[in-house]
Amino acid sequence: MIQIRIPICSSLAVLVLAACGAPAERTTPAADTVAASEVEAAFANVSTARILAAAETPEEWLTYGGNYDETRHSLLQKVNTETVSRLGVAWTYDLRTSRGVESTPIVVDGVMYVTSAWSVVHALDAATGEELWVHEPDVDRAVGVNACCDVVNRGVAVYDGKIYLGVIDGRLQALDAETGELVWSTVTVDQSKPYTITGAPRVVDGKVLIGNGGAELGVRGYLSAYDASTGKLVWRFYTTPNPEKEEDNAASDAVFAELANETWGDEGAWVEDGGGGTVWDSIVYDHVNDQIIFGVGNGSPWNRTFRDPSGGDNLFLSSMVAVDADTGAYKWHFQTTPGDNWDYTATQTIILADLPLGEDGAMRRVAMQAPKNGFFYVVDAATGEFISGEPFVPITWATGLDENGRPIEVPEARYGTTPILQLPGALGAHNWHPMAFNPDLNLAYIPAQEIPQAYAEDSRFTGDPATWNTGADFAAGTAPDLPPGTLEAIRASLKGRLIAWDPVAQEARWTVEHDNAWNGGILSTAGGLVFQGKLGGEFAAYNAATGDKLWSHDVKSGAASGPGTFEIDGEQYVTITTGWGSAYALVAGMAYPDGVPPSVGKVVTFKLGGNAIIADADLPMVERTPKGEDFGSAEMVAAGTVHFARHCAVCHGQLAISSGVLPDLRWSQITADTGSWESVVRGGALASNGMVSFVDHLTPEESEAIRAYVLRQAHNAVADEATGGTP
Ligand code: HEC
Repeated sequence: MIQIRIPICSSLAVLVLAACGAPAERTTPAADTVAASEVEAAFANVSTARILAAAETPEEWLTYGGNYDETRHSLLQKVNTETVSRLGVAWTYDLRTSRGVESTPIVVDGVMYVTSAWSVVHALDAATGEELWVHEPDVDRAVGVNACCDVVNRGVAVYDGKIYLGVIDGRLQALDAETGELVWSTVTVDQSKPYTITGAPRVVDGKVLIGNGGAELGVRGYLSAYDASTGKLVWRFYTTPNPEKEEDNAASDAVFAELANETWGDEGAWVEDGGGGTVWDSIVYDHVNDQIIFGVGNGSPWNRTFRDPSGGDNLFLSSMVAVDADTGAYKWHFQTTPGDNWDYTATQTIILADLPLGEDGAMRRVAMQAPKNGFFYVVDAATGEFISGEPFVPITWATGLDENGRPIEVPEARYGTTPILQLPGALGAHNWHPMAFNPDLNLAYIPAQEIPQAYAEDSRFTGDPATWNTGADFAAGTAPDLPPGTLEAIRASLKGRLIAWDPVAQEARWTVEHDNAWNGGILSTAGGLVFQGKLGGEFAAYNAATGDKLWSHDVKSGAASGPGTFEIDGEQYVTITTGWGSAYALVAGMAYPDGVPPSVGKVVTFKLGGNAIIADADLPMVERTPKGEDFGSAEMVAAGTVHFARHCAVCHGQLAISSGVLPDLRWSQITADTGSWESVVRGGALASNGMVSFVDHLTPEESEAIRAYVLRQAHNAVADEATGGTP
């Protein structure tokens, strides 16, 4: 019998579930917190000048991208191509969560500040992993339903003795770096709307910069700057117009009046849904031009036909935007995907660098980005002028870029009700996984992926922002009984690779093919190394010049986050946060046919000669067999297929195949019993754990149809290994 382990509460009857709490998610602070004063005298006394000089103190990791230019290139070289084979585990720290972890640790004054799922912050002794304090922001777990891509967090910012945290429910918090005590907390969003924060704040000249997410459900995006000492709003830049196209009394007013308003029609779903354009990841301080360059997300809803039938470019969706660092006033923009229709966010890593682009190799300061749409862009950092762009993966939606960098779309890409299979899909050719840049080799390292998607117009689009609201039909291409071999074909189409990209020549220098998509963020070092993990658990070091794999270690959980490196008492450490989760782990259970080892998120820190062991998670087992009978007419199961794809697949896995982050409904006791199912799905019995009630979206008949579909999938899986994803 094949078994996988899942948290025990998932297999219990619904009546006792209330007593279970959040299984395997122990986020309470440990009782024996060490007095912080025993560790170091100065705590995170970080200033703009100190971050600007980060290159002179490579023993620290002061900001999310390692330095203001966000190159993630460290000058440390004790761990290098010669010594890396001796790299072993120095220490591990248990983040006490079974949800996704995407955090890059900050290391300053010997202390590591790292975030975990549900926006929990852990402060650790960076040399030993000993816990100093834990900050639990007390999030109502029901907000998990607003998180498109797991309840993740990518890290904190440090400045002037404080730690800055974006909380999943939209708060921005300042903590005392020494004690973890709350200094101030500000609500940065309208919490009646489905906003979330997963990205790391950045701090420049006394201002904390923070964006948000939520464009899959329906929100209006913006970037805000808050006073670092008081938490008061200093400026805000909106990325889409307000419904009346009137002034917001914001930094963005002038440019909307001047050029952005006219790129939007007067009607369409954007008027209600806010149009999207959330600033959920990249925010870069360009100290040379004293400006902030940030990446803007996709349209809401995705499908422009519904969002804005007038067919405009919809500024500033899917753009890089530069604003004055002091005032937020507009400086320039470069739109990567005009009139976005496919969830092609341009929030991916933005890296600033000097490239030999001028005559006789004269240097030019540029911003580089490899957004979801599959093109690698180089633009002038001072003006946003397009310099060059080429596809870094196979793409089918466009044939190239014109002389201004505007994509030349193929007409079919603007899909109708007949599904089209397209590359990239909504998960992108590159997602949030941090890219890095080695200035000695002039190479950008891209965690690239090929995840095709069937796009079709959603004939049942209602514009309801309380649920996923994309205008693209998530049921396109699914059916209760798939032809034999379908899953193998899908799996074979999912590809991931590490690409060393020459941004001057706009071509790959070398490529490492991975065994799956969703490979992790990158660390580049002057030791001639590139570090990268994979969601499947391998963490490896490659020769930066050739791509040869020099070292790897199984970290026993998802390893997708951006690794970091630091030095204490002459010892170089390499660190990565691990945890099974994120958008891909939620939707693409089918990509992991052998199942996934159960895991609890960790910080895993390596040093030369380290010999610690990464402990296995001790989670209980569930039988991978259907617990209820196959039932329901063909019509009922077909209806359940559509409702599942629309309402459940984003969390419980496409085709009802879960990779184990959240319960695999096929093997659940709750699926076996109509009363238990009703109490969870429409009754909200597990709402406090993030499984909200669907009473406003599903009738009892529709809910029961989903149950019939899930059980059909369970029995199909047992009958036919190929369609079930059972190993
Ligand atoms: C936003 C994410 C999300 C969506 C969308 C979602 N769920 Fe859930 N679901 C969860 C979480 C989180 C849990 C685990 C709750 C817990 O740990 O107690 C869960 C648990 C469940 C369970 C209990 C399974 C068990 O064995 O414990 C059932 C049944 C369920 N969901 C059904 C559904 C159905 C049906 C849909 C679609 C109509 C759906 N869910 C959509 C997040 C989601």
